[in-house]
Amino acid sequence: MRLGTKLGKLLARLGGVPSAGNFEVDAREADPDPSVVPGAVSARQQELIDQVLVNPVIGGHSLRTAVLSVEIAKRLGLTTALGDIFLGGLFHDVGQLFVPPALLVAPRPLTPTERTEIVESHPVLGALVLGGAGLSQAVLDCVLHHHERWDGGGYPYGLAHDRIPVAARIVAVAEVYDVLTHDQAYRAALTREETLDEVCHAAGNQLDPEVAILAYDLLHKGSSSACRATPARPAASYAVRPSRPPLTFGGLRAAHAS
Ligand SMILES: [Fe+2]
Repeated sequence: MRLGTKLGKLLARLGGVPSAGNFEVDAREADPDPSVVPGAVSARQQELIDQVLVNPVIGGHSLRTAVLSVEIAKRLGLTTALGDIFLGGLFHDVGQLFVPPALLVAPRPLTPTERTEIVESHPVLGALVLGGAGLSQAVLDCVLHHHERWDGGGYPYGLAHDRIPVAARIVAVAEVYDVLTHDQAYRAALTREETLDEVCHAAGNQLDPEVAILAYDLLHKGSSSACRATPARPAASYAVRPSRPPLTFGGLRAAHAS
């Protein structure tokens, strides 16, 4: 079965991707676009896609993030690599499949060890798994860097500004929008207007200001933008954090054993 057909059926089951303003995507639109949805994937890649899509924690979130990422990328004027951005969005949280589910939905603050050694390892874990499955470097970049912050305060590498691959900056904005507009274990969903306010506030600190403002305009019902980025600090003030030591999986093993 073509991947696009499977995604279309899943979108139909999910009731489609919520539309917002001039952002209208539903099963019919997401299904047949061969330039965005790869028509053929390897058996291992299909296996991973299936695992993501059926997962109750990340399935719907991943698919919605993928679709919105492509819409933002198009609005940004990107005409190539849209398939990689789609797969990057779809796979961005694949590493969470290897994190104990109880931690992902914990209705309490995580301990520092749980957060940094286990949950925050998911971008690296995901990139490792996808690299082994033959996904492109562009897809791996989305997965590895979707929790970097524009101001350099993210993880896993503390990259800032355009050191973060643009596709990862796009997926980051789409992910924030989707997370905030849906119920989470630790808080209820925000309205679209509240979410867009948050996206706007994050522009220039957490999120790439150009991408965030563009997404704001894409998703906002009104005309153009009430959103302005917070002033960015000079680039010289951004330090690139040293890379983390190689992942040993020790924290994950301990978590699974407990
Ligand atoms: Fe993530």
